[in-house]
Amino acid sequence: MAEYSHSPTGEGFQLPSQEDYLKEFGRLEEVVNHQRNLKREIVVVMGLGFVGAVMAAVVADAQDGKGNPIKFVIGMQRPSPRSFWKIPLINRGLSPMSTEDPEVALMINRCVNEKRTLTATFTYDALKFADVVIIDVQCDYLKESLGDVRNGQAEMKALEESFEIIASHISPNTLVLIETTVAPGTTEQIAYPIMRKVFRKRGINTDPLLAHSFERVMPGKNYVASIRDFWRVCSGINEEAKSRVIKFLTEVINTEKYPLTVLDRPIESETAKIVENSFRATILAFLDEWSHFAERNGVDLIKVINSIKVRPTHSNMIFPGPGIGGYCLPKDGGLGVWAYRHIHGFEDDIFKITTAAIDINDTRSLHVAQLARDALRNMGRPIASAEILVLGASYREDVGDTRYSGSELIVRRLTEMGTEIRVHDPYVLHWWEFEKQDEYPASSHSLKRFFRGQERLKDLRVEQSLETALQGVDAVILAVRHKHYLNLDPDEVVKSSGGPIAVIDCFGILDDERIRRYFELGCEVKGLGRGHVKRIKDHVQEARERMLLKMSGETVTGAETAFRKANP
Ligand SMILES: NC(=O)c1ccc[n+]([C@@H]2O[C@H](COP(=O)([O-])OP(=O)(O)OC[C@H]3O[C@@H](n4cnc5c(N)ncnc54)[C@H](O)[C@@H]3O)[C@@H](O)[C@H]2O)c1
Repeated sequence: MAEYSHSPTGEGFQLPSQEDYLKEFGRLEEVVNHQRNLKREIVVVMGLGFVGAVMAAVVADAQDGKGNPIKFVIGMQRPSPRSFWKIPLINRGLSPMSTEDPEVALMINRCVNEKRTLTATFTYDALKFADVVIIDVQCDYLKESLGDVRNGQAEMKALEESFEIIASHISPNTLVLIETTVAPGTTEQIAYPIMRKVFRKRGINTDPLLAHSFERVMPGKNYVASIRDFWRVCSGINEEAKSRVIKFLTEVINTEKYPLTVLDRPIESETAKIVENSFRATILAFLDEWSHFAERNGVDLIKVINSIKVRPTHSNMIFPGPGIGGYCLPKDGGLGVWAYRHIHGFEDDIFKITTAAIDINDTRSLHVAQLARDALRNMGRPIASAEILVLGASYREDVGDTRYSGSELIVRRLTEMGTEIRVHDPYVLHWWEFEKQDEYPASSHSLKRFFRGQERLKDLRVEQSLETALQGVDAVILAVRHKHYLNLDPDEVVKSSGGPIAVIDCFGILDDERIRRYFELGCEVKGLGRGHVKRIKDHVQEARERMLLKMSGETVTGAETAFRKANP
C-alpha cells in the first residue's frame, strides 16, 4: 500500500517508489549539467528542517558583485512520512514552516521560481553532484528521566549513518560542512574515521575535507538575518578544509559586516556552540530559585530584573518563563557531558552547573500546575474537574515551533491531575506532540512517558478563535508572550469566559493595572515570580470592605455604584 506524508495543512504526498528514484536522478543530472555550464558551484544541503531549509535558500540566493547567482542548491531530505512533504512544498516555491519573518517565504519562492537556483530532492544520489555538502540533520539527546540530564545519551546513529552515506557518494574534493550541533569531538573522532574508512574502501587515498561551523539561527522575526547576517565560528580538519570553509562562508553569508571567527580545530568550534547554549541555559535557570523566593515574599521578579538590567554589565538577564524549551537549550549541554565520557573517555564528574541548569529548566513548568491548582482552590473549585485554557503552545513568542515547549509539560501535568485542557495558539495548527504522541518527536521521545493518564491528549486540538476557546473555562494560563496575548483586556476575557476565572501569568505578561482589574472582577491571579499579586489582591479586598462598610451606613456614591457593578 502506498504510504503518504502529510503537510501541516493536511495535504497528503505519496512517498516515492523505486522508479521515482531513477527518474529523480535523471532530473537532477540534467539540471546540474545546465547549472555547471553556468559556472555555478553545486551545494547539497542535507536535512531540510528549521535550519537546513532556510540555510539552503540563503546559499541559493548568494550572488557575485555583478548580481549573478553563484551557487545551485539541492536540498536533500530523507523521504520519511514525517518529513517528505517538505520536498514537494519547496519545489513549488513554498516555505515548509510558518514564521513571522516574511523574507523566508519570499526568498524560497525567488530561488525556486525566479532565479531557479534551488531544488529539493529525496535521493542520496544528489550527493554525487556536490562540490559542497552541508549537514543540517538533527542530533538528539535522549533523556531517560525528567529532570536528570545525566541519565541520557546522545543519539549518534542517524548522524553516523549520514557520514557513511555521504562518504560513499561524494567526490574526494567535496567540502563537507557539519552545521549540526554535535557532541564536541564528533568531527574529528567520529565523522573523520567513518568517512576515511569508506574513502579507503572506494580506493580514495586522500582525507575527507571536513569542516564545522554551527548555526545561530533564531526562527522568529529575524529568521533569515540570523543565518545570513550574523557572526559565524568555523574550523576545518586540516588547512585545506579550513581555507575551503572560509571561502565558502565568505561567499554565502555577510562576513564583511559580521566577520568570521576561525578556530584552530573543529572541537573548538563544536565546543563554542555547546558552551554558548549552556551559558544561556544557565542564566535562565539561575532565576528559577529567585522566582520561588519572589512568589513567597511579595516580590515582583519582573520589576526586580528590569531594575537590574539598566546596568550594562547585567543587561542580558532574562526572565525564564515556564521552562526553557526549543530544540537546542534542553539538549546541547547534555551532548557536552556525554562527549566527555563517551568520546573522550573520562570517568570523573566535572559538570555541575551545566547539568543543574538543564534539570532546573526541564522541570520549571511543572510549578505552573501548582499555581493553577492553588488559584482554583482559592476560588473553591477543585482542579480535577476544572477546564483550563493554555494560551500559547510554542516554546517562544511569535513562532510556531512547539519542540520541548514549557506549555507541553504544563498540559501533561495538568492532565495527570484530572484537568480538561484547551489550547490556543495563532501560530500552531496542529500540536503534533499530542495529536501524534506515539510517534512524535520519535516513538521513544514523547514526554508522555513521564506522566500518567496521557492517552486522551491525542484528541487535543489547537483552537484558532480565542473567543471560542475562552467560553466557559475556569482558568487561563498565559504561557507564551505571543503579541496577541500582551494586551488582552481583563473585562473582555471575563466576559468571554462567562464569569470570574483564575489567571496564571507565566511570563510577566500582566501589568499591575490588569492584575488589579482581574481581582476587581472577582478573578484570582497568580504568576511565576510574581509575589506582589497578593499585595494587589489585599488592596482590592480592603477597598471592597471599606466600600461595603460605607454603604451600610451612608448613601451610595457614583463610584461605589460603579464598583458594585464591577464586583457583583
Ligand atoms: N532550530 C534551531 O533553532 C537551531 C538553532 C541552532 C542550531 N540548530 C541545530 O541545527 C541542527 C538541525 O536542527 P533543525 O532544527 O533544523 O532540526 P529538524 O529536525 O527541524 O531538521 C532536521 C531535518 O533533517 C532530516 N534528516 C534527518 N536525517 C537525514 C538524512 N540522513 N538525510 C536527509 N535528511 C535527514 C529530518 O527529516 C529533518 O527534516 C540541530 O543540530 C540543531 O541542534 C538548530
